[in-house]
Amino acid sequence: MTQPLIAPSLLAADFANLQRDLELINRSEADYLHFDVMDGEFVPNISFGFPVLEAVRRHCRKPLDVHLMIAKPERYIDAFAEGGAASISVHYEASIHLHRTLSRIREMGCRAGVALNMQTPVSLLEDVVDVIDVVLVMTINPGFGGQKLLPLSIPKIRKLRRMLTDAGSSALIEVDGGITLDNAPTLLSAGADMLVAGSSVFGADDPLEAIRQLKNSRQL
Ligand code: DX5
Ligand code: ZN
Repeated sequence: MTQPLIAPSLLAADFANLQRDLELINRSEADYLHFDVMDGEFVPNISFGFPVLEAVRRHCRKPLDVHLMIAKPERYIDAFAEGGAASISVHYEASIHLHRTLSRIREMGCRAGVALNMQTPVSLLEDVVDVIDVVLVMTINPGFGGQKLLPLSIPKIRKLRRMLTDAGSSALIEVDGGITLDNAPTLLSAGADMLVAGSSVFGADDPLEAIRQLKNSRQL
């Protein structure tokens, strides 16, 4: 069985020791660094943007998985791609011309992702499935790290896996929010390919070991 992709979330890092935390990620088995951008409008919090991206890129050797929790994300696709993103996810709820936005992400050479809030049904993706490389399923209400995973996200992941298979799509399923070593096997069994983890990595006594254990999580 293939191992899950692991993306530690920068949001839970120590910003006063960013270089130290990025070097830790470089040494780890992480596949990506998850980069959460919040604008205070789409979500009730503000995180970081381009100056931090620029600093992160100088020190981080892992590909950057950018998660845009911002209104009208189409305004910033080119800038994040040029800023070094490997993957860019926009929210379904924030993108009126989603097909165009996802196509632009691909044109800019990045993996195109669409993120779904809890209340957004997976069936809404059926008509854009041809331009999706990754579906980011929010397993919490976005805006803050350190929350508990919402249980209804598990059947949703299962439904999404079936929908992608039926559509002949090879898009990955990424899950984000409240992910721990304890719930990782359930998420993988439901169909997740990629695990984002903030608090359970940076809040662990040994973040390197936490990443290693997440990487070695298996389906139930
Ligand atoms: C929240 C972000 C998440 C967050 C996850 O809106 O999208 O990526 O960093 O943090 P944890 O793993 O602490 O729930
Ligand atoms: Zn995120």
